[in-house]
Amino acid sequence: MSAEIISGKDIAQDIRRELSDRVAVLKSEKGLTPGLAVVLAGDDPASQVYVRMKGKAADEAGIRSTQITLGDDTSQDELLGVVEGLNADPDVHGILVQLPLPSHVDDQKILRAIDPSKDVDGFHPVNVGLLSVGAEDVLAPCTPSGVIQMLLRSGVDPSGKHAVVVGRSNIVGRPMASLLLRKAEGGNATVTVCHSRTADLGAITRQADILIAAIGIPEFIKGDMVKEGAVVIDVGVNRVDDDTRERGYRLVGDVAFAEAKEVASAITPVPGGVGPMTIAMLLSNTVDAAERLHDADSTED
Ligand code: GUN
Repeated sequence: MSAEIISGKDIAQDIRRELSDRVAVLKSEKGLTPGLAVVLAGDDPASQVYVRMKGKAADEAGIRSTQITLGDDTSQDELLGVVEGLNADPDVHGILVQLPLPSHVDDQKILRAIDPSKDVDGFHPVNVGLLSVGAEDVLAPCTPSGVIQMLLRSGVDPSGKHAVVVGRSNIVGRPMASLLLRKAEGGNATVTVCHSRTADLGAITRQADILIAAIGIPEFIKGDMVKEGAVVIDVGVNRVDDDTRERGYRLVGDVAFAEAKEVASAITPVPGGVGPMTIAMLLSNTVDAAERLHDADSTED
């Protein structure tokens, strides 16, 4: 069998188009322009690229984006001051502080300072808690939300299936498990979470109807760890040295793609799989936050 390729690039494009339409309606019917503020502290080159991509995608969807760029020597108090200013700004509906922050800053302190109703990353403990008790109207982390959209939009309903998540990070593995477990569309799966200390990991991954790899190790999931006909979602993005490429490396996922695609019924590629979904879901969270904040304001008096 050679698996169907699930294109995150195409699905993300569909979502971004739908969001542009939703933003246009918000503007014309409610006079509301969703606003996203992205804070970048330091000069990490990868973060600079991500932040630029997020701002550009927001602008294309009609979302007003602001980038706040701070130096590597920005103090924790200065950063907290910036977050507090954005919390208080009525034109800002979504706040994202790009990670990693400079090493002298406590990133948890900064993330906890963000108003949970503007926390479009879904990293604030209030949102983490709401998601873990199964709330539906919560700002959930973008990458796992994107995975759920990829499944649903390619005709894979997790309900009743055994989903195995490999990885327990706060950004992907844990929220992924919470979303799959939730009594809601895209949820209702039987969920197993595996990690670096799991014994006989292959015996567990081979039971997965839906296998989600988010462990951060290049090509960790081999073909013989995948059940015949499983749906395989590869969240990993790893650079491996490759002298045949001009830039000296190539990107690979956490799944040995060539092997796994001969066993799976559907699989996501790297690049062009989960990656583009993260930005699409950031925009989606921003529009959701804007709608909720606007509706809450208009019922206040
Ligand atoms: N750095 C890498 N990925 C992310 C993300 O999803 N959100 C934030 N804030 N920083 C990141």
